Amino acid sequence: MKHLISIEDLTKQEILKILDKAEEFEDVALGIRKCRILEGKILANLFFEPSTRTRISFETAMKRLGGEVVNISAQEASSIAKGETLADTIKVVSNYCDAIVIRHFLEGAARFAAENSAVPVINAGDGAGQHPTQTLLDLYTIRKECRKLEKLSIALVGDLKYSRTIHSLIKALTLFNSKIYLISPEILSLPEDFLEELNGNFQKARLEEVIEEIDVLYVTRIQKERFLDEEEYRKVAGSYRITPQVVEKLKSDAIILHPLPRVDEIDIKVDKMRQARYFKQAFYGVPVRMAILSEVMQ
Ligand code: NCD
Repeated sequence: MKHLISIEDLTKQEILKILDKAEEFEDVALGIRKCRILEGKILANLFFEPSTRTRISFETAMKRLGGEVVNISAQEASSIAKGETLADTIKVVSNYCDAIVIRHFLEGAARFAAENSAVPVINAGDGAGQHPTQTLLDLYTIRKECRKLEKLSIALVGDLKYSRTIHSLIKALTLFNSKIYLISPEILSLPEDFLEELNGNFQKARLEEVIEEIDVLYVTRIQKERFLDEEEYRKVAGSYRITPQVVEKLKSDAIILHPLPRVDEIDIKVDKMRQARYFKQAFYGVPVRMAILSEVMQ
């Protein structure tokens, strides 16, 4: 059974295969071509944390491929509110469907769900842990918009401590010989164990020092919900703000990505500038998730 819990569950070849497959699904995602390969299959969306893009793009992807979706989200409206354990919920739900997408506030929850499931489990974000499907769509966006994936200069900006999108992406980038710049307030630095894995292929930097050189500017939201102390959050809130003045220093063919939602990290005036690709990135979530769903369910 093929679960997708961490980006490390995939080899470089498997990652590239999913990106190629996503390419073939783009016209289906746009509604131009019909494809019903998941007809008769049911996906369960199990969301214990808020989500717009991830949940809706999985749902759209499944429906465009002819499948059906059941959503279990409001904790208060399900037996979770009655004290049911995650293990029991998964055992029951996995007997109703062909795959489960889970988002949970606890790191490790998706792995635990997989151990209790009769069907493939896809991690749609586990606390500050991993978010592998976001990484696949990030890689897809980079490959499409930069026309290559290897040897790019990539700046990761914002909350490197708690962003699961960063934790997954950084592991994948090491497969593609990227030069990685880590840009964050000191208290939101990338955790030590990641630094060891990066084997020196990274550099802590200030945005001003590298802005003219980078190919990809990947901006993240400061993950307010992961802070134990509101006062600590206030110290770093609004640390980075990508304004048109900042963007003007970027190379003209550089791209700006953000997993969204943004709070105030990117000025809305940047949306119209040629480097802005974050809304396109959000669209690419659909063909990429189609590729993932067809991989695990066919
Ligand atoms: C991200 C997440 O949930 O980790 N959102 C997403 O899936 N696109 C990023 C975030 O919440 O900041």
